[in-house]
Amino acid sequence: MSTAHLLREFYNQMYRVHTQPGNAYDIGDHLHHLTVHKHLDQDPLIQFREAYRWVDQAGARLVADAGCGYGGFAVFVARHAPTLSVDGYTLSDVQRAVARQALARLHLSKSRALLQSYDRLERQYNAIVAIESLGHSPNVAATLHHWASHLRPGGVVVIIDELFRPEVSPTSPEIQQFMRSLHFSALLQRGPLETMLHAAGFSVLGWVVLSERYHVHTRSDEECDRLLHAYRRDGVHQGYIGGMLLEKFYNRGWVDYVLLVLTLHRAASRRGIAKEAIESLHDQTSELTAAMSAG
Ligand SMILES: C[S@@+](CC[C@H](N)C(=O)[O-])C[C@H]1O[C@@H](n2cnc3c(N)ncnc32)[C@H](O)[C@@H]1O
Repeated sequence: MSTAHLLREFYNQMYRVHTQPGNAYDIGDHLHHLTVHKHLDQDPLIQFREAYRWVDQAGARLVADAGCGYGGFAVFVARHAPTLSVDGYTLSDVQRAVARQALARLHLSKSRALLQSYDRLERQYNAIVAIESLGHSPNVAATLHHWASHLRPGGVVVIIDELFRPEVSPTSPEIQQFMRSLHFSALLQRGPLETMLHAAGFSVLGWVVLSERYHVHTRSDEECDRLLHAYRRDGVHQGYIGGMLLEKFYNRGWVDYVLLVLTLHRAASRRGIAKEAIESLHDQTSELTAAMSAG
C-alpha cells in the first residue's frame, strides 16, 4: 500500500475517533475542533496564531496549507484577514469533507480544501504553511524543492514540527516504532533538515523553539507505559501509540517542537540589500542632523 493510501486511512480513522460521543474533539462549528495537532498550554490555537504572524508579516494574499486537516487554519485566517485566500491540501477525503463543510457554513468562498498531495501544489503562493505535516513526506528533500518552486518572490514557508536532537538515532527500535505508528518516512533532525532546505534554495528567516515558549503536556513514563499497554491490548488507533511514545521522548529531552520560517536565498539577499540601504540612509541622516545642529 502506498504512503498516501496509508495516510488517508490513518486520518479517516482518526476522524472516527474524534467524533466518538464524549471525545473532546466532537467536531462542530467551533474552531477549536478543527485542529489536528498537539495543544500547547492547553490552547489549540497557538500554532495557527504563531504561523499566521509570519504569513501576515510577509503580506501574503494567497496561502497554501500543506496538510490542512479539518481546515482550521483557513478558518482562523479568515477571522483575521477575510480577503486572504487559503488552499488547504490533504490526503484524507474525510478531512476534506469536514473542511469543505466548515468553509461553506462560514461562507468562506475565498478558501478551498483540496484532496491532493502537497507535493503537487496547484498554484504559486505567497506563503506555504505546514503544521505537523512535513514528517509525513515520503521524501522531505523533494517536498522542499517542490515548495521552493511554488513560492512567489518574497514568500515564506512556515513549518511547525517535532525536530529530534542530533544524539537520537533514527534506527533505534523505539524511534522506528514511533515512525511506523505515525507513518513518518523520515525523522526530522536539525542538521539533515538544514542541508535539505539549503539545497532547495531556502534561507532560514526564523527559528522558534515553541516547546521552550509554551508547555508541552506529557505524562510520567510510568503512566505512558500503562496507557501504551492498554492501547495495544484494546487495539486503538495507531496515532495514540505514536503520541504516547512521543510523550516519553519529550520526557527524555530527545525532541523539540519548533517553528521554522524559510525564504528563498535570492529573497533573503534582496531583503539584506534593502536593510543595508535603509541603515546607510539612516546613518547619513544622523550625520546630516549632527552637522546641522553643530553648524
Ligand atoms: C497532524 S495533521 C495536521 C493538520 C493541520 N495542519 C492542523 O494543524 O490541524 C497532518 C495533515 O497532513 C496531511 N498530509 C500528510 N501528508 C500529506 C501530503 N503528502 N499531501 C497533503 N497532505 C498531507 C494529512 O492529510 C493531515 O491533514
